[in-house]
Amino acid sequence: MEMFSYSFDLATRTMNPIHGEQLLTQLNWRYATKKFDPTRKISPEDWTVLETALILSPSSYGLQPWKFIVITDHKTREKLLPATWNQRQVLDCSHYIVFAVNTKITEDYIDKHITRTTEVRGGSAQALKGFRDAIVSDIVAGDRAATAKHWATYQAYLALGNLLTSAALMGIDTCPMEGFEPAEYDKVLGLPAKNLTSVVCCAAGYRSPDDKAAGMKKVRFPREQVIHIV
Ligand SMILES: Cc1cc2nc3c(=O)[nH]c(=O)nc-3n(C[C@H](O)[C@H](O)[C@H](O)COP(=O)(O)O)c2cc1C
Repeated sequence: MEMFSYSFDLATRTMNPIHGEQLLTQLNWRYATKKFDPTRKISPEDWTVLETALILSPSSYGLQPWKFIVITDHKTREKLLPATWNQRQVLDCSHYIVFAVNTKITEDYIDKHITRTTEVRGGSAQALKGFRDAIVSDIVAGDRAATAKHWATYQAYLALGNLLTSAALMGIDTCPMEGFEPAEYDKVLGLPAKNLTSVVCCAAGYRSPDDKAAGMKKVRFPREQVIHIV
């Protein structure tokens, strides 16, 4: 198996679980990084893994109504800084990801997904017609069409969560970021022409040794207030 690919081959879908303790150690290690070390960059190999984790994110109907815009260009990041409430993570992190979603889900888009499904799994579009029409009558023509952008946004947040956990497992720091002005980002990144809009961002890289937030205790409600067993 190619090391960093996502695979369509079931034979390579192997199980190699990590221990619960290791998972919780990494989840406790993760925190929303306030100060990144601007001198440390994620290696191309590690970044490829994280990109792949993004691509592997689940989405409703498998529709993947997103684009992950990876901003490495420093000038662009400087333009984004004032629209990011001047949060320096946008400048100092290694990779800055803007999660953008389709502003409208169209029949053409659903057909693109059906075509891709037949490319990957074989079979015919005709055999998937029931599935296709069900999606169209929900997201494109149904009650949810009016809020399709919100629906797409939920999917993007799942990808964000997947990225945060994946990065933490690899010892890579992140800061999820909602503190930005989407309209300004859209302008800087030329998103409206592509029928896209930015919904959330993530800075990724390595914490600065003097980031005080790293030493702060996690604030979470007690287990019994959050987990309800019925
Ligand atoms: C969707 C989302 C948006 C966030 N936006 C910001 C942000 O703009 N700037 C920031 O410093 N932290 C941001 N945070 C970080 C949260 O404040 C942080 O996750 C929360 O306080 C819990 O702390 P922990 O992640 O360190 O455990 C955001 C978190 C999430 C999940």
